[in-house]
Formats: sequence, structure tokens, C-alpha cells
Amino acid sequence: MKPKILVSRKISDLAEEKLSKEFDATLNPKDEPIPESELIKIINDYDGMISTGFDKIGENFFNNLNGKLKIIAQVGVGYDNISVKSALEKKIKVTNTPNVLNEAVAELTILLILATSRRIGEAYNLVRTDNWKNQKPDLTKFMIGNSVTGKTLGIIGMGRIGRMAAKSAKAFGMKIIYYNRNKLSEDLEDGAKYYSDLNSMLPNCDFVSIHTPATAETKYILNKDTIGLLPKHAVVINTSRGSTIDDDALIDALENKKIYAAGLDVFNNEPNLDNRYLKLDNCFVLPHVGSATHETRLAMSMMAVDNIYCFFNEKPLISEVV
Ligand code: DGY
Repeated sequence: MKPKILVSRKISDLAEEKLSKEFDATLNPKDEPIPESELIKIINDYDGMISTGFDKIGENFFNNLNGKLKIIAQVGVGYDNISVKSALEKKIKVTNTPNVLNEAVAELTILLILATSRRIGEAYNLVRTDNWKNQKPDLTKFMIGNSVTGKTLGIIGMGRIGRMAAKSAKAFGMKIIYYNRNKLSEDLEDGAKYYSDLNSMLPNCDFVSIHTPATAETKYILNKDTIGLLPKHAVVINTSRGSTIDDDALIDALENKKIYAAGLDVFNNEPNLDNRYLKLDNCFVLPHVGSATHETRLAMSMMAVDNIYCFFNEKPLISEVV
């Protein structure tokens, strides 16, 4: 009998086809989210699951398992929606999809850097609301932003995505500094300057971009105190997880012009982000689309399927979390 695999959301067609050939797969073609209580009820029929960051796979989920489920293959590099501690206790494998989204997230980081520094949200709204014609084309005031070339980008978390963002930013003439738990080898640093202490790096940032996973250690890494260390012209960029930023502190800094702007793709309590962000001209917001390209989502979906395939064929997993 083929192992039974539950796919919690719609994934790329080719990946669904591949999975269905090898396994008894239950797909979710309508992409209806499975509520947590429903998931807990049905999961005990399955040997494996392909999950996404939208699924709540916490202690509750693991406490109700009957021993059939063996692997959870997450479509996503982040897995903060999964209780890894419970998975370890229950000896359930968890895999993720690192690397294949580095470029897509780095591209979005650059987009946010450019959008915030060149006031693209305001400029776009002006044209879309047909208000351009009511503006004075003042050469030194109309939609004037800041240049990116020659500015310093501070990266918090110089992992695979952070390093790719650094590489892309360098193409725009930016200088790179970084804060990381450990100093990287010279090769990986690629000219970036290391700070072992976040507080020492922040005053030197024209832009600061977060690329850490969501952990207890990184929760509110940008808070009232750390945001207070940024220069007045600084821009905060976040493509990692909302939990790395204390919303009250960032909103206060944006409202009172303690910093220049923020470009955010991720939020606390998505998709119900703090509405105060929406009222701010100096905040450019996106709906968590860092990895949202056809190519990347296909690669992520395929990697999750391949992890399932490897597991049930006793081959080494491609990307094991635990
Ligand atoms: C990830 O892979 O974790 C991205 O945030 C997409 O969900």
C-alpha cells in the first residue's frame, strides 16, 4: 500500500502530479485552509503531511497523534508554525525548503529598499488617485527621496538569504555591515563588516534589514531601545517574520519621524496587521510575498515532495530540520 500523504494547501501543479504518482495523496485543489481542529481530527489517517506556514502545527496537534504520522514536509524555509520540540519528542521528521527562495527574497528586499527610499508608495498613490495634476512640480520638493548608492545596509542575520540580499544590494552600490551570532569566514563575508553587538551596528545603518528566523532570541529584536539607536534618516526593512519587530516601537518611530521609513513584507498576526501601518505615508507594506514567484514556489513545492519521497524510500532527506 502506498503511504497516505495530506497536502494542507494547494501547491504547484507539477509537484502535486509528482506526489500523486508515488503516493496516495490527498490534495487541496480549492486551497481551502484546514482549521486547526479539523486538521487534528483528520491527520491520524496519514503517514505524511505537506504543510505551509499557514498551518498551526503546535503542541496540541502533536498531543493528539496516534503514531501513524511520520513526517511533516513544510513548503517554506521558516517553520515557526511547527512545534519542533514536540516533533522531536514524538520522533516525527520535519523538513523545510531552504536555498531555493534566497534570490526571490533578496529581490523583494531590494524592492523594499528602493520603494521606501524613493517614496514609491506615495508616488504610486498620487497617480492612481488622479492627484498628480494637482501637484506643483517643485524641483527640490516634489516626491524627493533619498539615493541608495553609497549608503550602508546593516543586515541582521547573515544566513543564506541575508548574504544574497547583501550581494544584490552591492549591485546598487551599497556598503554592507552585518550583525550575526557568529562572524562569517572571509569568503562568506565577501567584504561585509562584522559587528558582534547589534547596538554598535545600528547607529551606522542607513538601512537595516532583518533576515533571521523567528525564535525566542529574535523576538522584538527591533524594539524601542534598538530602534532608538538608528539615525533619523534610517529605513527599516523586514522580509523575515513579523515577530522580530515590536509594532508599537516601530509605529511610534515612523509617526514621530524618529526614522525615515519602513518597508515591511511580514507582520505580527498576519494577515491582520496593525492598522496604524496603513495610515503612514512613510511605510510601504506588502502581503508576505517574499518567495512569491512561479519559479520559486515550484522549487519549494518540489523540494517538499522530494523530502517526502526520500523519507519513504529510505534515502537521505534533502533538508532536515529535526
Ligand atoms: C518562508 O519560506 O518561510 C517564506 O516566508 C514563505 O512562506
